[in-house]
Amino acid sequence: MGKYGHFSEDGLEFIITRPDTPQPWINYAVNGKYHALISNTGGGYSYYITPRDSRITRRRYNCLPEDRPGRYVYIRDNKTGEYYSPTWQPVLKELDSYECRHGLGYTKIFSSYKGIKSCINYFVPIDADMEIWKITLENTTDEDKDLSLFPYVEFVPGDALDDLIEQPNNSHFRYADYDPQEKVIYATNKLGVSFLPEEEQYKDEGCWGKYVFFTSTLDITAYDCNRDHFIGSPYRSEANPLRVEKGQLTNSMLNSGHVCGALQNNIIIKAGEKLKFCIMMGAVDRQDYKNQTCQIFKEWTPERVEKSLVDLKKYYEELFSTVQVNTPNDRVNRMLNIWNKLQVKVNFTVSRDASRFHGGLSYGMGFRDTSQDLLAMIMFDAPAAKEVIKELARQMFSDGTTYHNFFRVSNDGIKTGHSDDPLWLPLAVQYYLKETGDFDFLDEVEEYADGGSGTILKHCYRGIDQVWSKRSERNIPLMLNGDWNDDLNECGKHGKGESVMVAEQLCVDLKFMIEMLTYTKRDPQKVEEYKKIYEIVVEEMNKSCWDGKWYHRFTKDDGSVMGSYKNEQGQIYLNAQSWAVISGIAKDERAIQCLDSVLEHLDSKVGPRICAPAYIKSDATIGIATREAPGKKENASIFNHPVAWFIQANTIIKRGNIAFEQYYKTLPEVLSEDQDIFAVEPYVYCEYTTGPDHKEFGEGGHSWLTGTASWMLLCGLNFILGIKPKYDGLVVDPCIPSDWDEYEVVRKFRNSTYKISVKNPNHKESGISEVKLDGETFEGNKFPVFDDGKEHTIEIVM
Ligand code: GLC
Repeated sequence: MGKYGHFSEDGLEFIITRPDTPQPWINYAVNGKYHALISNTGGGYSYYITPRDSRITRRRYNCLPEDRPGRYVYIRDNKTGEYYSPTWQPVLKELDSYECRHGLGYTKIFSSYKGIKSCINYFVPIDADMEIWKITLENTTDEDKDLSLFPYVEFVPGDALDDLIEQPNNSHFRYADYDPQEKVIYATNKLGVSFLPEEEQYKDEGCWGKYVFFTSTLDITAYDCNRDHFIGSPYRSEANPLRVEKGQLTNSMLNSGHVCGALQNNIIIKAGEKLKFCIMMGAVDRQDYKNQTCQIFKEWTPERVEKSLVDLKKYYEELFSTVQVNTPNDRVNRMLNIWNKLQVKVNFTVSRDASRFHGGLSYGMGFRDTSQDLLAMIMFDAPAAKEVIKELARQMFSDGTTYHNFFRVSNDGIKTGHSDDPLWLPLAVQYYLKETGDFDFLDEVEEYADGGSGTILKHCYRGIDQVWSKRSERNIPLMLNGDWNDDLNECGKHGKGESVMVAEQLCVDLKFMIEMLTYTKRDPQKVEEYKKIYEIVVEEMNKSCWDGKWYHRFTKDDGSVMGSYKNEQGQIYLNAQSWAVISGIAKDERAIQCLDSVLEHLDSKVGPRICAPAYIKSDATIGIATREAPGKKENASIFNHPVAWFIQANTIIKRGNIAFEQYYKTLPEVLSEDQDIFAVEPYVYCEYTTGPDHKEFGEGGHSWLTGTASWMLLCGLNFILGIKPKYDGLVVDPCIPSDWDEYEVVRKFRNSTYKISVKNPNHKESGISEVKLDGETFEGNKFPVFDDGKEHTIEIVM
């Protein structure tokens, strides 16, 4: 039982038991178009497809109190004039009871105050561009209550970047009014979206192409569309709006100014009575918007709302049914069966677009991020992942370079010159092919970002060939403006510094290509070419990048080596060791030695640091990593994403105990044993945990949107439990802690279900001694593709 919350018994909800969590703990309700971030006190913002260009509600940046505004409902007792927020924020009146349950695609906040019990269930239906707040109020007192309810949101609407930068000029374009016939507030922005291509900008007479609507299913007795009328004074805030204090909204429309949606519902709720109603907010196309909302209101009856909640539940059940595990460890089960999967789905949907740490204004979709986010998604929804791989292919230029980040809808991107980007596409293709066996995909044609087109296979070649074309004299790829470590951005900017990690990644891609082309009997010439390159890089790496006990990490433009015992700071880097093993560059003794060096020099009680010793002195010949606070981010924090690669590397050399120890101690639930110290959400991975070089050692940073989610799910399912899809079958190759007696996995794979049970009577970390398939003795551990819609049992004794 944590101080602020814990998982429900079935693990399907995280229950927050007090509102004043160390940081806002959020959840996502997303359907691929309409996206909402929802905090445990009703905070968070909403957007349609892209948070920069099509924002619905505002987030006030860098302000205190944090996490404002939000989706609020003020409740006012008209007899006493007292009002409060059932979500605690923004009024902050102490509630008699409070509980927030974050679930799969919804958040419920329960509270009670002076006998009025409430539950607000916020969710986004899987098939509509809107969010619904399903609300139940109950009067548990023995007197009738005369209440006014004030549902409230603050709209942007439209271009959120412009909204932030161009205040107050942007305000002259905003309009909002109440339609008494339909009982709804409509708001829009006649200023268009800056980043749309020119031909699109004038499609809607130059206006933002959407209207947002805000309505209640209760009778609406008054409204306000002008935020400043609602709040009443620049020296008040949503904590004490004048109109709520007075108990009467002013029926303000808005043409110029700050837009809000505020509704007033006057109700008498009898003693013992329950009242159910909904608030709906969504986005419709500008053309013909009124007809669209009429249609929505007709369709969304109370029954439809209930059905939509059932559909949401079914959607997640079905999605996650691809794989279910039962291990001796409840925390692991909860993560692998529920929460890690949810995080993978959210990352896949929103990439780096919008979180509490990604403000929704500048980053968009990360090329390397999305390539990795989709890896673990393929098993749940291969067709959706395939579409995203194709979208990524379209972000590649004909020379094999790529956008580093890109924006949906406006279809623009930013090129940053990171050296690693092109190598992530072949990795995504590899995972897709192994899950599906859909080799025709390689021949599908996609356009390049600068025109022309090529097959997916050609895209992979171009990415790999591009990286190989930019190498040093000794055949190590160049660092350029940074690699996976974004913040090593100054060591290679003059085109001389090299990246050991990119060399290792290149080898991973080459190995995949050689294996896959050979298997599918394609392009023998390319196979020969890639074999040669692989050998050259492996040899050079082992000749000149081995430091005696570990691998170097990079060289600077002046040729000096970093990640060596000779350096004062940044002597050893985690990624260079893990990827040396993953790529097959480090074998036998060296593999053991370099991973042992990580344990010796980088490990801490919350996982291994990304590098050490931390940079104390800034170094403009290395990068901004050296100017980050020691212990934070890329300067010696425990970056959870590379921890996953370290776990993977240990499973490759069959060290189940070490792999599991690292996996277990970096589980969010374990890291947040002291929830005040970890501070961020205990149910999802964060990007990094603050390292021992910082006084906030153990605090989580950047929760939710991180490549950690995808890779940790792969660590659990594929690398530790050992369920590995291959082109021609499903391999079961356990690499587990030796004290486990047994575990089970049910895995759907290419239209069959594999019911796998593994027994470990001899307490081993890996290795298999007896195998049965459907009750018969079976040779080896690669099980055939049955493609028969049936269940098959696999019994393994280690
Ligand atoms: C963040 C970025 C990712 C990058 C990592 C290290 O997680 O999203 O792309 O590789 O930081 O810089």
